[in-house]
Amino acid sequence: MPTITLDRYADVREAYRQHDLEQALYDAGGVVMADCLLVLHGSAHRTRRRVENRLFRRGTFRHWEHTFLRDVVTDTLAPFVAAGRADLLELGYRTVMNLTAMVAGVDHSTTEVAETDALYRFAKKFSEGATLVHTTRDPEEVRAEVADALDEFDRIFLTPSIARREALLGRLAAGEITEDDLPRDVLTALLRHTEELGLDRDMLRREVAFYLQAGSHSTADAFSHAVDDWFAWSARDPEAAEEARHDPALLQACVYETLRLHPASPVARRRALAPISLRGGTEIPEGSEVVLDIAAANRDPEIFDRPTEYDPARDVPAEVPRWGHAFGGGMHACIGTELAGGVPAATDREGAQVLGTVTLMLDALLAAGARPDPAAPPQRDPHSARDHFASYPVVFG
Ligand code: HEM
Repeated sequence: MPTITLDRYADVREAYRQHDLEQALYDAGGVVMADCLLVLHGSAHRTRRRVENRLFRRGTFRHWEHTFLRDVVTDTLAPFVAAGRADLLELGYRTVMNLTAMVAGVDHSTTEVAETDALYRFAKKFSEGATLVHTTRDPEEVRAEVADALDEFDRIFLTPSIARREALLGRLAAGEITEDDLPRDVLTALLRHTEELGLDRDMLRREVAFYLQAGSHSTADAFSHAVDDWFAWSARDPEAAEEARHDPALLQACVYETLRLHPASPVARRRALAPISLRGGTEIPEGSEVVLDIAAANRDPEIFDRPTEYDPARDVPAEVPRWGHAFGGGMHACIGTELAGGVPAATDREGAQVLGTVTLMLDALLAAGARPDPAAPPQRDPHSARDHFASYPVVFG
């Protein structure tokens, strides 16, 4: 069967919305991805997404951002600023790890750096498992390491997190507490709907592990690229970059421009369950694999003027998000878009803008006077064919 690559913006958009295209990117990553939301299809996906969506209602993250998100960002940054240096990867993961664990429902101490670092280690390993299709290492070796990490994660974090929630659900059933006393996280939602969703213990643990890596890896990756792009822009056009640094809405546009140019998932992959004809004329035979080349579609000159140029002030057509396809689309569209990316100023009808975690992180880092470490240039990840940094040292002051 042929593999068909779609690299035009409109084709990728249309493909995302085809019900007869099912997820195919994680076939090799089953050790951590089997039966996860991102690989489910049809009614199984709809039912799971409906249960999990309730946590991601509009307004939840607006509330988070106005109550504690900024503090999480500045508190995590503070010790690095005091030490005079940071690695953007470590800083990025430390910041988003606690947040992602909270969304997933993984109890841990937010003040114990050792616990956050353990979660970071697990999330990195799970992410390596999920993206096995891109690995340049021996896949069997990676699979064994991911399986061991899942066992250890289960013992240290998941088992106690489940026990606490089951006790709470028991108290809810006995009328001792109300719905408002339950944690609002994915694990609690899943435990309440185990039967309806047909979940066994292994599926439950893979879903929580998937959230832990899906939320943290892409956000930390977007953060490192956002900083790198801003540094380069500041060298080319110091005045414009400086203006953006003091204007959160402009800084958010910078993050969107980075997401467009460096999408954390540069390709999506689908399998055709039926023959499909796209409006642009592409015929997709049943059984073929379809590569949605997001990185290329996000540089489609029909949509984005001077497509390879980093221009946060660019005009885009009204129906096109500034990040292009970086958050996906259709049924698998990223559930964490608002948490990571916020709500663009122009579409935010309720007035108070939601900046999103990545913009908050970039803002705090630049306000602390970060600049690239002149003695240690950033390194690309040698174990991934994807556009990731392995380290990015910065100094402050
Ligand atoms: C900058 C940060 C992020 C980027 C660029 C990103 C990107 C994406 C993309 C492209 C997809 C769709 C993949 C596909 O169609 O094959 C996706 C799905 C998903 N993302 Fe994100 N994501 C980010 C942050 C987050 C966060 C913070 C969370 C949760 C805390 C999250 C949870 C998910 C989940 C659960 C799905 C699967 C949705 C489904 O299958 O219905 N993501 N993300």
